[in-house]
Amino acid sequence: MSDPKNINWFPGHMQKAKREMQEKIKLVNIIYMVLDSRIPKSSFNPLIKEIASNRPILLLLNKADLADSNETKKWMDYYKAQGYYCLDVDAVTGYNMKKIVPLTYEILKEKIDKNKERGIKLSMKAMITGIPNVGKSTIINALVKKKITVTGDKPGVTKNQQWVELDKNLDLLDTPGVLWPKLEDNGTNLALTGAIKDDVMPIDEVVKEGFEFMNTYYRDAFYSRYKISEINSIYDYYEAIAKARGCKSDDYEKINNIFLHDLRHEKLGRVTIDRFTSIWERTI
Ligand code: G4P
Repeated sequence: MSDPKNINWFPGHMQKAKREMQEKIKLVNIIYMVLDSRIPKSSFNPLIKEIASNRPILLLLNKADLADSNETKKWMDYYKAQGYYCLDVDAVTGYNMKKIVPLTYEILKEKIDKNKERGIKLSMKAMITGIPNVGKSTIINALVKKKITVTGDKPGVTKNQQWVELDKNLDLLDTPGVLWPKLEDNGTNLALTGAIKDDVMPIDEVVKEGFEFMNTYYRDAFYSRYKISEINSIYDYYEAIAKARGCKSDDYEKINNIFLHDLRHEKLGRVTIDRFTSIWERTI
């Protein structure tokens, strides 16, 4: 098992990825940073602010369909208060996707007006960034309305860059900038949503925390799906899930997979795993 604290720290590799991202960012007027709405903190990489060098950042809280909308709102208010622009979207059904272009023009209005005054006819340029699996490629494909092959989806991989037209005066870089997640204290939350592979963190621990999380925040949906009644120990969860799904209660691997699949695919309802309050509790 890899040590989760070391997994994303290959300093040379990350420095290279950072430099490449800085090069790309120089080409654009605005950065779209995609977050997973279920983990708006864990999928956020604060490095973006440093490398954006004053370019506006529009946070796209994607997979809004899977998240708890009350929590999404709190997170958006929080990020807006920090100077980010925010929009909750669902790239699969298209929810709010049509707002991205007009919002971009609104954010860049001053720049566009200045260009007009000076008689400069330049399209605005945008790029997408985010950690793996937040939906960057899905968003690019939805925005350009036709399937393109998204390449370079690994930190440190350079590919030829092309611009795709999103609107008459707005172009998007067809390759997303891939940021890496920080695993320090967010590893479990990243693992619960599938943002990192299941072999990065000790899966039994992840599932145990997942049970406790569901028991605390979404007990009704959790108990009702697996007909859970009384819980005295973690094994009662395993027993209940095994019974509900017709497998052996000591087949932990299977039960772990059932639970994670259900959690990740809305079978336990819409869930936000990064709780807004927890950030305050930690920082105060
Ligand atoms: P990436 O480029 O950032 O790495 O992410 P990508 O677009 O490949 O999307 C990762 C998975 O997330 C894909 O599912 C995709 O369909 C799903 N996805 C993207 N946007 C949304 C959204 O707004 N809502 C929902 N519900 N799903 C979204 P996949 O490959 O089938 O993987 P998974 O669903 O098993 O995670």
